[in-house]
Amino acid sequence: MKYKNGRFNIENVSVEKIAKKFGTPCYVYSCQNISNNIYNFKKNFKDINPLICFSVKSNSNSKILNLIGKFGLGADVVSKGELMVALKAKIKPEKIVFSGVGKTVNELQFAINKKILLINAESESEIIEIEKIAKKNKNKVNIGLRFNPDTDANTLKSISTGKKENKFGLTKKKFLKILKKYKNSKFVNIICLSVHIGSQITSHIPYKNMLNVVNKIIHQSKYKFKYIDLGGGMGIQYENNSNKLNYSKYNKLIKSFLKKNKSKIIFEPGRSIVGNAGYLISKIIYIKETNSKNFIILDAAMNDLIRPALYGAKHRIIPSKINRKKVNKIHEFVGPICETTDKFLTINDFQKINQKDLMIICDVGAYGMVLSSNYNLRPKPSEILVNKSSIRIITKRQKLNNII
Ligand code: LLP
Repeated sequence: MKYKNGRFNIENVSVEKIAKKFGTPCYVYSCQNISNNIYNFKKNFKDINPLICFSVKSNSNSKILNLIGKFGLGADVVSKGELMVALKAKIKPEKIVFSGVGKTVNELQFAINKKILLINAESESEIIEIEKIAKKNKNKVNIGLRFNPDTDANTLKSISTGKKENKFGLTKKKFLKILKKYKNSKFVNIICLSVHIGSQITSHIPYKNMLNVVNKIIHQSKYKFKYIDLGGGMGIQYENNSNKLNYSKYNKLIKSFLKKNKSKIIFEPGRSIVGNAGYLISKIIYIKETNSKNFIILDAAMNDLIRPALYGAKHRIIPSKINRKKVNKIHEFVGPICETTDKFLTINDFQKINQKDLMIICDVGAYGMVLSSNYNLRPKPSEILVNKSSIRIITKRQKLNNII
């Protein structure tokens, strides 16, 4: 992705062309980026040969899922809707895992009927419901037990999941108790231990700590798990000088873990597969100058991309057209929504920009469109998929008539 003759291109298509054809704001994804990410992921973890289940919550567009499925990935789903879209995208049920603390009986029933690989149960109450369904269906259901390793993921507090104060997984005591109670159950077959300590993890150290704790509990339980599901969380680079997870260090840790525990590894990556493959294209509505700063008012807002408002996340913003002239003033990129937190980024100096110019908000392929809403009664944006020189609309912009 680079500038050609001063104009930003996504693969071989200029952002200007996309905006002209489909309007703004719109999400644009690059097939090439997605396939590079998958290739890279697979290459780095090649010798442990994991089952890679893409985390559908990060991007649930069926066309994107279909593309990911074609690379052989499975899916990690957390609702009936996500399971339905994964199946619609032709992802095989035997490559689908179902996580989440609050699966309803209806959702469990649906997943069991579809014969997915396993359900990662997070409480004894859930196992009781699964047993009831299995008894009724006269079958045995494969499940995993989600363990809460009480490990700090060293990421944003709001996206940490592996500490004991978080709602996820079973404490060590409960985990061992449930394992003992259900290991000979006629209706559930415990085949997996699962963990997920958080998202956007940029150091291998939290994973190291987590693997140590997991190793200990497996040893203590003396139970042979066919699968160890290590969840996702692999962090990507959002800012120019920020860190991303070093896959090869993580791979090394897992290899030494596997020497003691012979199991098949499952991963549930989301962000690391699609994060840097998405761009939010937006047009400047107005530039409002004040003494201290310029407000750049975009036609994209927190309803389209909530990460900055919700987590204080930073996404790079770049212009679609390079201008060598600089303006030495604070630039605050904001949306039109009536909330002070409807603000994307503050940059000190920026190139000269004008009303109607196009701006590109980067790395929004994960947790972008899926978290969009109709707040301020704004229609959700369209989604476009670029493959080399071809452009395809994969989600139409919502029509006001359909949401009013
Ligand atoms: N597996 C489980 C059980 C999860 O809860 C998650 C993410 C994943 C896998 C995928 O994690 P990833 O590889 O994408 O980090 N909305 C937040 C992120 C929330 C993540 C929730 N769980 C954000 O925009 O940063």
